[in-house]
Amino acid sequence: MSTIHLNGFLFAVSITFSIITLFPEMFTALNYGVVGRAINNDVVKLHLINPRDYSSDKNRRVDERPYGGGPGMVMMAEPLSAAIKEAKKHNSLAKTILLTPQGKLLNQEKVNLLIKNQYIILVVGRYEGVDERLLSEDIDEELSIGDYVLSGGELAAMVLIDSMVRLLPNVLGDSNSSLQDSFMDGLLDCPHYTRPEYFNGQKVPDVLLNGNHKEIFKWRLQQKLGRTFLRRPDLLKGRKLTTDEQSLLDEFLNLEN
Ligand code: 6GU
Repeated sequence: MSTIHLNGFLFAVSITFSIITLFPEMFTALNYGVVGRAINNDVVKLHLINPRDYSSDKNRRVDERPYGGGPGMVMMAEPLSAAIKEAKKHNSLAKTILLTPQGKLLNQEKVNLLIKNQYIILVVGRYEGVDERLLSEDIDEELSIGDYVLSGGELAAMVLIDSMVRLLPNVLGDSNSSLQDSFMDGLLDCPHYTRPEYFNGQKVPDVLLNGNHKEIFKWRLQQKLGRTFLRRPDLLKGRKLTTDEQSLLDEFLNLEN
């Protein structure tokens, strides 16, 4: 069995990422914490491919000047396409994603859908981008991680991998904690506190100390709604609040004033 249903989501039990990048060494940054453990436990496999190894040029060139002129270089379609073919030898059905600032914005909803895939090929762009003809040939989807420009897609690929891996069953110690994260319910997370009870004269909110789990749940939901309303009203736009949620939010806003 290679996929399972949990909490209404379909999950792959393990994922193999084939990563096509000019800087494979950067991906050692994934060898830490939750993702590092998943790699050690073979729940996640990283297969790094350098497109230079697929260049037909004797100097292993993978970039060229843009047709039409202009600054910078463009990644040639041929070595990337050959590298993708190599990756597809491992799984011909793998979903192929190009990381590019021109892609659709990654969000939690998208991550939740992507984890149903057992094989993913990530094509990482550098320079001014990749030859457009690669896209129609070999790319299923283009993704960006935000409205700013990075000097390459490697960090974006690692962000995508991390966001997916932590959702896999058996990866987080407490299998519930990823479900309680910011954005899993489309809201920002509530504030968290730990010992000591006083820090610089600030006390932990009383409700968290009284052991009344119904009250604590209500307070946390109220904080999530209030914070989301104040900081990220855009997240509430497409969402109809229940009457209970609306009255928690109203009470939160009254307490603020
Ligand atoms: Cl996927 N690539 C680059 N180069 N910059 C980005 C990005 C990706 N997402 C946001 N900025």
